[in-house]
Amino acid sequence: MFPLSIKGLRFAPEQRVVLDGLDLELSGEGISIILGPNGAGKTLLLRLLAGLLPPHAGSILWGAAALPDGRLAMVFQQPMLLRMSVFANVEFALRPQAMSAAERRARTDNVLERVGLAHRAKDCARLLSGGERQRLALARAWAMQPRLLLLDEPTASLDPSATEAVERIIREIRTEGAKVLMTTHNLGQATRLADDIIFLAEGRVQEHAAAQRFFAHPQSPAARAFLQGELPWRIAFDR
Ligand SMILES: Nc1ncnc2c1ncn2[C@@H]1O[C@H](COP(=O)(O)OP(=O)(O)OP(=O)(O)O)[C@@H](O)[C@H]1O
Ligand SMILES: [Mg+2]
Repeated sequence: MFPLSIKGLRFAPEQRVVLDGLDLELSGEGISIILGPNGAGKTLLLRLLAGLLPPHAGSILWGAAALPDGRLAMVFQQPMLLRMSVFANVEFALRPQAMSAAERRARTDNVLERVGLAHRAKDCARLLSGGERQRLALARAWAMQPRLLLLDEPTASLDPSATEAVERIIREIRTEGAKVLMTTHNLGQATRLADDIIFLAEGRVQEHAAAQRFFAHPQSPAARAFLQGELPWRIAFDR
């Protein structure tokens, strides 16, 4: 399903252009982070890739195919949790997969252990804190063993230690072979996690570069302006 090749992607509801011929090519390795101002279309791009809504024009090719042949999981900014136990939230998500009930339970136990929620397995998921909910949502996605994991601001509104816990989980999922494509407004997080940065503004990818290079030498005027706005103490960039 890789390289993922997006060409001329357009999303223009009611004459308002949000994505205006977006091109992007992604390899199947590493963590790619989408940055950009509010309303740039970051969440929308993830939703289009997840097939949750159709684009108005353009193409998304997974390798040479129109549909991904590997599993894809998406975690939303406000994860949707079922009014059931922590355990059931993961176990339920695995039911469509061909595996025995015992295997499903074992995999559920395993991911809950790894995200540090094993001791909360019997609690109602709706009672979890924000950071715990995000960890549960990640555990659920992880259990599905996705080839591509889409994460929309997975640590928005989490405190630094919850953020660190979530970042550790994201790294582990990547290490196990999933490609991660995520959005964040936390530039510290982007420098910690990203292999490459996709800078989205005005309906297009303005810049796609290795993370280190992006932060040290942003090439596009839009990315420079964005970083200067977000990091006002960085008055000038190295040339
Ligand atoms: N299904 C939809 N139908 C119509 N308009 C939509 C739809 N989804 C998103 N939009 C519009 O597309 C624009 C981009 O939204 P999106 O949520 O992708 O922004 P974003 O880059 O994720 O911003 P933020 O940083 O605030 O999360 C917004 O103006 C939004 O109203
Ligand atoms: Mg968004």
